[in-house]
Amino acid sequence: MKSFLSILDCTSEELNELLALSANLKALYKNAKRDVCLTGKVLVMLFEKASLRTRVSFQVAMNDLGGTAIYLKPEDIGIIGQREPAKDMARVFARYVDGIMARTFSHETIVELDRWANVPVVNALSDWSHPCQAMADLLTIQEHCSQLNGLKLAYIGDGNNVARSLAFACAKFGMQFVCASPKNYELDSKSLNTANSILSGCALQTNDPVQAVKDAQVVYTDTWVSMGQEAEKERRIKDFQGFAVDESLLANASKNTKIMHCLPAYRGYEISNGVMESENSIVFDQAENRLHFQRALLKYLMG
Ligand code: CP
Ligand code: NVA
Repeated sequence: MKSFLSILDCTSEELNELLALSANLKALYKNAKRDVCLTGKVLVMLFEKASLRTRVSFQVAMNDLGGTAIYLKPEDIGIIGQREPAKDMARVFARYVDGIMARTFSHETIVELDRWANVPVVNALSDWSHPCQAMADLLTIQEHCSQLNGLKLAYIGDGNNVARSLAFACAKFGMQFVCASPKNYELDSKSLNTANSILSGCALQTNDPVQAVKDAQVVYTDTWVSMGQEAEKERRIKDFQGFAVDESLLANASKNTKIMHCLPAYRGYEISNGVMESENSIVFDQAENRLHFQRALLKYLMG
């Protein structure tokens, strides 16, 4: 495994190893011990879009492992390819640093960086996927539900980058994934078919959130307006009415259903304040696990 661009590029064995390594390193660091396997190594972090969790957790993870990280903000790099082609940037970076992580609009930009860089490349979110998020999410579910295999995750909202990576990750770990979205915002059928080709019948799409949350151990949501879609905000807010993860929807779910959100959350839209702050909400454990997964990923790829 040279890079981490998509859940689909990894075998189930590799993903299992990454989860196990995340748990081991989490325990190590909780015990105030360190593993400085990346001493002297440098990661460059390219951001075409804003970030709080991804940026800070990657930077802390590099520091934890003895390395350093360089942050290039949207104003520094613009849209990759506009000032100079991704293939030129990739070859320049590969001569300075030991790894590249990138958050881009187009997924193809990350693929192109990886094609030309002879160092590992990590997808830190593209319009197509968010694999680091999905892996941190599975680590969190495993901790709270003590298993993954056989669980049902109901994703309520936009069939977007986060939903797609979750569908693939659920398929790889034997989970059922149900996406409930308004008409025209469903997860594309190619992605659903891909998940179902990994694990037959595991991924379903519906327009009925009530049906989706029934018997789900996990209910998950994300913003209705992803970065880059700001111009569609008004229309999206109208179109997503009835798809909020709130008290009335959760009246149809089991009492113990865990609530997840990749954050940032927009209270009063995709999730109610009460649900965000409820006992069943595990959103901050989920955010913490971004650090633990990414520490493992960096060790795996660059160590
Ligand atoms: N969930 C997530 O990726 O958060 P940031 O956009 O803040 O990095
Ligand atoms: N779907 C959201 C996720 C943010 C972490 C976006 O792409 O903006």
